[in-house]
Amino acid sequence: MKLKNILLSFLVQVTLSTTFSEPINKKFPKNFIWGTATASYQVEGGWQDDGKGESNWDHFTHTYPDHIANGDNGDIACDSYHKYLEDVELLKDLGANFYRFSLSWSRILPTGNADEVNQAGVDYYKNLISALKSNGIEPFVTLFHWDLPQALEDQGGWPNTDLLVEKFADYARLAFSLFGDDVKNWMTFNEAKQTCQLGYGYGVFAPGVNSDGIDSYKCAHTVLKSHARAYHIYDEEFRPTQNGRVSMVVDTDWFEPASDSDQDKEAAERKIQFNFGWYANAIYHPDGNYPQVMIDRIAERSQREGFEQSRLPAFTPEEVNYIKGTYDFFALNTYTTTMVQWSDDWEIGTPGYDADISVTTWQDSSWNSSASGWLKVVPWGTRKLLNWIDQTYNHPEIVITENGFSDHGELEDGGRVNYYLEYLSNILQAILDDGVNVTGYTAWSLMDNFEWLSGYTEKFGLHQVDFGNPDRPRTAKSSAEYYKKVISTRCLVDVCED
Ligand SMILES: *[C@@H]1O[C@H](CO)[C@@H](O)[C@H](O)[C@H]1NC(C)=O
Ligand SMILES: *[C@@H]1O[C@H](CO)[C@@H](O)[C@H](O)[C@H]1NC(C)=O
Repeated sequence: MKLKNILLSFLVQVTLSTTFSEPINKKFPKNFIWGTATASYQVEGGWQDDGKGESNWDHFTHTYPDHIANGDNGDIACDSYHKYLEDVELLKDLGANFYRFSLSWSRILPTGNADEVNQAGVDYYKNLISALKSNGIEPFVTLFHWDLPQALEDQGGWPNTDLLVEKFADYARLAFSLFGDDVKNWMTFNEAKQTCQLGYGYGVFAPGVNSDGIDSYKCAHTVLKSHARAYHIYDEEFRPTQNGRVSMVVDTDWFEPASDSDQDKEAAERKIQFNFGWYANAIYHPDGNYPQVMIDRIAERSQREGFEQSRLPAFTPEEVNYIKGTYDFFALNTYTTTMVQWSDDWEIGTPGYDADISVTTWQDSSWNSSASGWLKVVPWGTRKLLNWIDQTYNHPEIVITENGFSDHGELEDGGRVNYYLEYLSNILQAILDDGVNVTGYTAWSLMDNFEWLSGYTEKFGLHQVDFGNPDRPRTAKSSAEYYKKVISTRCLVDVCED
């Protein structure tokens, strides 16, 4: 650590309060951009319309309905496949500058292979993009938000590194060539940690593979290589004519040390490196590669477990250089905070990601709740996280690509209004008082939608969707009114200083 950074982090520690502070009455910068987000499987429905192929989430929800609340699935979801023009109207009414949505790979390429294009799927996204553009809304497009063509899952999915890197590269190239004249902001992957650790580690998300600390690491390795391939393809074949931006969305909580002790601080730093640095370091850190603490600890534990080599795959020096710096802005999803306490190294036994980290974590019982067990309302944590990213990754431009709150879908959603008010206030303090370069914000989500294992029981929308009605009508909640006001005034409270 450089002396400047040591001083800075000391300053941040003492000046950032961990308690509630009044929302600030200053304005967001003039060029700050505002949007909302969704994801294909969570909103589109039309799961087998017009030639769409099966995705791993179609397969998972149909095969294991008992793994999802009320046995629900995304077969119809918000029916955005048919109602996208209404979605664009909602965005227009909010005054959103951009809409972040994802492409369903298997809607465009039913078998996952780029030589078999489903024209109806291409047309759907062309129509959506053109409706956005003609209403002055920029499309922010995610290539992969968790729904993999089942045909590729059947061949091993993300842990099959050689196959998936090639398939993703072909898919990315096709997407850039089809949509890149209109799409200037691309995100390759959304929260790949959820796919890798929940899908191939704990085995609770699609495809339900239980290979914690082995396949989950292989999956991440594939994702990082695939992202870098897509970035370089864009750089070489498309950037000269399309001149857009490409990044990868990484998600994390803020991890707050349980005390001021050096051990708890070390534990919290280790936790964020395993949780966030696992994906962010190779791309966003000036040195690239996995965080050293991951490389060292996983190698050491693997050896004691009797593995011949580390369970964490290694990048060659050429690969480190190839992946390093493959971003045009820092794309961050964040929702909450977790406390971290130092613990003795967990015993050697079954290999696993949490044992590799060996820390104790919890959320404070005094923090406000949401409808999601993992999501507590901790606005100050986001300001600390933004400062940590600013210092760790050399003052990048940051776009917050997701942030939001869940309840049970009520129209008078005061909890959500309060969440946006307080989180945005802390983000604004990070910008104005701490000099962190946050240039955009994305509310998750435009509307209530299919919340993965929780089905339709946890609602994140600015708009309510009536899932009991075949027409899936959308209704603005109080939070939509609030967000609309924030976008038009750049002010979080009734009156702001000029
Ligand atoms: C917790 O919820 C209460 C009631 O909605 C609200 O007044 C308070 O500001 C919230 N606190 C935080 C930190 O969000
Ligand atoms: C933020 O990032 C943008 C894009 O790189 C840059 O133009 C701008 O100068 C940066 N602002 C600050 C305050 O660093």
